[in-house]
This record gives sequence, C-alpha cells and structure tokens, in this order.
Amino acid sequence: MKQIKIGMVGTGFAASFHTEAVRRVVGIDAEIVGVTSGRHTNAVAFAEKHKLSRVYESFEQMLDDPQVNVVDLCVPTSLHLPMALQAARAGKHLIVEKPLTGYTATAGHDDDEDIGMTVPRQKMLDHTLESMQEMEEVLQSTGVKFMYAENWVYAPTVAKARRLIAASPGTVMRIHAEESHNGSHASYAARWSLAGGGSLVRTGSHAVGGALHIKYYEGMLKYGEPIRPTTVTAEVGHLTKMERFQAREPKHLADSLIDCEDWGAVLIRFEDDSVAEVIASDVVLGGIYNYLEIFSSDGRIRCNINPNDQVLVYSPEEDSFGDEYLAEKISTRRGWNFASPDEHWASGYYQEMQDFMETIVHDRSPLSGWQLARDVVAVIYAAYVSAEEGRRVEIPQ
Ligand SMILES: NC(=O)c1ccc[n+]([C@@H]2O[C@H](COP(=O)([O-])OP(=O)(O)OC[C@H]3O[C@@H](n4cnc5c(N)ncnc54)[C@H](O)[C@@H]3O)[C@@H](O)[C@H]2O)c1
Repeated sequence: MKQIKIGMVGTGFAASFHTEAVRRVVGIDAEIVGVTSGRHTNAVAFAEKHKLSRVYESFEQMLDDPQVNVVDLCVPTSLHLPMALQAARAGKHLIVEKPLTGYTATAGHDDDEDIGMTVPRQKMLDHTLESMQEMEEVLQSTGVKFMYAENWVYAPTVAKARRLIAASPGTVMRIHAEESHNGSHASYAARWSLAGGGSLVRTGSHAVGGALHIKYYEGMLKYGEPIRPTTVTAEVGHLTKMERFQAREPKHLADSLIDCEDWGAVLIRFEDDSVAEVIASDVVLGGIYNYLEIFSSDGRIRCNINPNDQVLVYSPEEDSFGDEYLAEKISTRRGWNFASPDEHWASGYYQEMQDFMETIVHDRSPLSGWQLARDVVAVIYAAYVSAEEGRRVEIPQ
C-alpha cells in the first residue's frame, strides 16, 4: 500500500492529537481523508478546523468509502470493539485507542445503571475475554493490521529504556509504574457503564501497558518470545468518598466518579518470576504524574514521561506567561512548574503514528499491537477480580 488514507472516528481530545501526529509522519504518504463523529455538527467543525475534505454522515458510510484503508478509533472505550469488528470485516486496518475494551453498558445494561456496584468482577472478566477472543478471530481471518495506541511504548524515555536494556546483560527484576492525576472531568469517566472501570482502566492501562511492554521486549531479546504476566494481586479504593475529603472545601481533586474506583494498586508476577507494581489514581495533585522505573540486576532506569524537568518555569502570577501552555493537569500556574517543551513528543504521540504508518507500508507488526492490547485488559480485569475476592488471580492466557 503506497498511499495511506485514514478515516478518523471521533472529534475529541484523542482525535485531535492523532490528527496532529498524522501530519508529522515523515517519508510516507499518509493523510486523514475524512471524519465522522457522534454529532454530525462536531464532525463538520473538526473537518473545517483540520482542513479535511470529507465528513461522513455515519461510521457505516465511512466504511463504504473504498478510499479509506485505515480507521482510527478515537471514541469512548465501550465503542472500541464493536467498531473495530465492523471495520475489520470491511477490510480496514485499525488504530484503536487505549484501553482495547472493558465491561460496559454494551454488555446488556442501561447507560445509567450502576454496574460497578452490582456486576461481579469474574463475570466482567469472562465477558471481556470472550469479546476479545471474537476480535482476535476476526483479525486472523481478515488479516488486517491492529495497531494499539499505547503511547507509553513510544515515549522517548521508554525508547531510551529499550536501548539501555538491549545494551545490558542484566535481568529486569522489578518494574514500578504509575499514571495518576487530579481526577477526570470527562462525563464518560464518571460511570463504569461508559468507561469500563475507574482509574485502573483509564490511566492504569498506560502503566500496565508500559510494564508489560518492557517484559515483552526483554523476552524477545533473550528468548525470541515475550515474557508474559501470570498472576495478579490488587486493591482498589474510592478515596474521594472519604468523609474528611467530602467535608473539605475547596476541593482540588475531581470527585465526580459514581460507581468506580479512583485508586488502584496492582502487583503483577511474570513467568520468569519478576514483578511489576502498578499504581493508577485520580488523587494526585501537582500535574500529570507518569513514570516507569526499571530495577534490573545490572542497573536502574527511571523514565519520567511527565513531568520532566527539561524546562522549569516560575510564575509569580497565574498569567505571567499569558496563555502559553505549560503542562497537563496542573491546578495552578503560579510558582514553579515543569513546563513541557512538547508534550505530544514527550508522550510519544508522534512516534506512535510514525510506527503505525510504517507498519502498514512495510507490512510488518507494530511495536504496540494486539497482544499488548489484549493482555492489558486481561491483567486489569483479573486485578478487579483479585480486589473484589481478596486473592491472587491467574491471568487468563
Ligand atoms: N493515549 C492517550 O493519552 C489518551 C488520552 C485521552 C483519551 N484517550 C482515549 O481515547 C478515546 C477517546 O477519548 P477522548 O478523551 O478523545 O474522548 P472525547 O469525549 O473527547 O471524544 C470522544 C469522541 O467520540 C465521539 N463518538 C461518540 N460516539 C460515537 C459514535 N457512535 N460514532 C462516532 N463517534 C462517536 C464523540 O462525538 C467524541 O468526538 C478513549 O478510549 C480514551 O481512553 C487516550
């Protein structure tokens, strides 16, 4: 395939940075030809803003367009798998945002049902495994590429960690990873039925993905196959429900979650007996807090995805630097801040899209693909079972 023509699905936050990333792709003829969204007016506005030539009335209309050879799913989690199945059957390559899927209202509930309070986690795990199995079979039968938009894999700090691991004789014994911030304000995040869980699914999918990726990479180097996770032990909590937090005003943390956790800690064991500790929370002040630390027998690597201290900014006033962007999720611009020179680059968004486009043109596998997408969901839902039942849980292979 010489020319890559992408159909963008969704017009929100992720769709915007994916669109910018496609424009940064070098050496490959790739463009977004058109867009569709939940609301047609949003699609029209998005197409105008990003100078896209087509607006599709529906997802189906986009799939009918023979020009489109890739669809980029930047839609809420509950729609990832149903849309991916449809697009794969229509012969389109797939870019799918994280997490791959989750147990949501699409499993036969109303959108406003508090499924996080009522549905046993084992049932959730079984359901997600079944739906992923169906997707895997469709991928095998259609042969379309599946590209999983886990940007941690592409963050320059993690890329450097891979090179360091490759250059070292050491064994990765322990990984510590976290993605946290001061809470989501997105309306879909409030309910399990729409988000498929709380902080573990929303932000923890990045940190679990990063940790698994490092062990897979190490395994490929040493044995020619990934080192897979085997068991998980976890705790979750709803910390903004604490009485003393509720009584306190003003609130500096978002507390809109209804039936899902805002903190989770997961211990993962791998088949070579190494471990990973993953934390995901919505109760961290001071800006987005994303890091992955690798403890090996022969060294230690700390990847500060965000924040990092390339540019430190001191502002005596909120508007000392006008509206120039500083960093994600900081609650004040006063005082010292870690200002990201290019957050999209530091997060790996550009590098991710470059790999996806090369994957298609050179007919190879992406660095972040199906196995990672599938295993992250299996780990997180096994973690939910562990937290609910108070026991170590085997991760279904
Ligand atoms: N990798 C990252 O750093 C990152 C960051 C943010 C979000 N995400 C992921 O991206 C996805 C989207 O999140 P977001 O923050 O952009 O959400 P958003 O609410 O900003 O945008 C969602 C978009 O989906 C569209 N949509 C909803 N139903 C649709 C339908 N039936 N057909 C077509 N479009 C439909 C909406 O109109 C909206 O434009 C989620 O899976 C999220 O986890 C990833």
